[in-house]
Amino acid sequence: MSAQRVKDIRNMEFDETDIVIASYPKSGTTWMAELVSALNYNGNVEELSNLRQDERVPWLELDSEYWWIKIFYQWKRLFGDGRDILPKDNRCHAPGTKYRLCFTHLPLELLPKSVLNGKCKLIYVARNPKDNAVSFYHFHTMARFLGLQNLDWNEFFALYLTGSIYCGSWFEHVLGYWKFANSPAQKDRVMFCKYEDMKEDLPQQISRIASFINVELTDEKKENVLNHCLFDTMKNNKMANRDTVWLFDQKISKFMRKGQVGDWRNYFTFAQSEAFDEVAKEKLEGSGLDFRYE
Ligand code: A3P
Repeated sequence: MSAQRVKDIRNMEFDETDIVIASYPKSGTTWMAELVSALNYNGNVEELSNLRQDERVPWLELDSEYWWIKIFYQWKRLFGDGRDILPKDNRCHAPGTKYRLCFTHLPLELLPKSVLNGKCKLIYVARNPKDNAVSFYHFHTMARFLGLQNLDWNEFFALYLTGSIYCGSWFEHVLGYWKFANSPAQKDRVMFCKYEDMKEDLPQQISRIASFINVELTDEKKENVLNHCLFDTMKNNKMANRDTVWLFDQKISKFMRKGQVGDWRNYFTFAQSEAFDEVAKEKLEGSGLDFRYE
C-alpha cells in the first residue's frame, strides 16, 4: 500500500453510521462480514442473494487508483454485470440499511483517526494463532498478489512466527486491538470476538453482535441469519465465497477451505507446536487474552 493511501485512509471520516470490521487475515473476517451484513439487512437474507460481499462490505485498504484495479473495473464494466464494485470511500451504504460497512486488516495504529476517536462501531475478530497460521499458509498458496505461492509449510511457519509476512506479527495485531477493546472508554463501541466462540455457539454470537449494533430481530430472522452464515451455506454462496475474485486461485486452495478449529494438528510438528507455545506464552502473558485450540 502506498504511503499516500495510508495517509488518505487515516483522514477518512467515519461516524455513528459506520461499522468497521477489523481482523488479522484468515481469522473469520468474511464470516463476520457476512453476519454483520445480514444483520444490517435486518435478517432479510434473500436480499443478499445478488449482492457480492465485497460490494456490501468493501475492503478499506483497496486503492481504486492502482492500475490493476482500474483495469479490473474497466473489464467488469464492459464484460461483467456493469456495476462498479468499489463504492465511494470504500464503504457501502445500501438503501434500507442502517450502517455503512467495511473491513480492514490494518493494525490499530493505522486506522482512520475518526475510527480511533469517533463514534463508529468497531468489531474485531480474532482466531487462535495456530489455526490462523495454517489458514494463512493456504491463503499464500492461492493469493496471486502476495507472490509467495511456492512457500512450503516449514518456510511459512518460520515467517509467521517472526511476523515477517504480509500484515506482520499476529501477536502485535491482535494485542493492539485487544487492549483497545478493553479500555474503559471504548467498551460500548468496540467489540472483540473470537472465531472459536462463533464456531461453538453461533446463535449466541449472533444475538451478542445484533445487540451491540442495535439491530432487533425476530426469532425467524435470527434463524435466517444463522442458516445463511453456516460454513456449508457460505462455501456454496457465490456472493460470499470469493469465487469471483480473480486475485485468488481457488483451483489451488478454496477460500472457504475447512472452517474448523484444530486443523493446526494436521500441519504443526511437535517441535513447531512447542516453539509456538513458548512464543505465544511470552507474548500473551499478562494480557488476559487466551484462545481455544481444539
Ligand atoms: P480455513 O482456511 O481454516 O478454512 P478470512 O475471512 O479472515 O480470510 O478467514 C478465512 C477463514 O475463515 C477460512 O478458514 C474460512 O474457511 C473460514 N470461514 C469462512 N466462513 C466461515 C464460516 N461460515 N464458518 C466457519 N469458518 C468460516
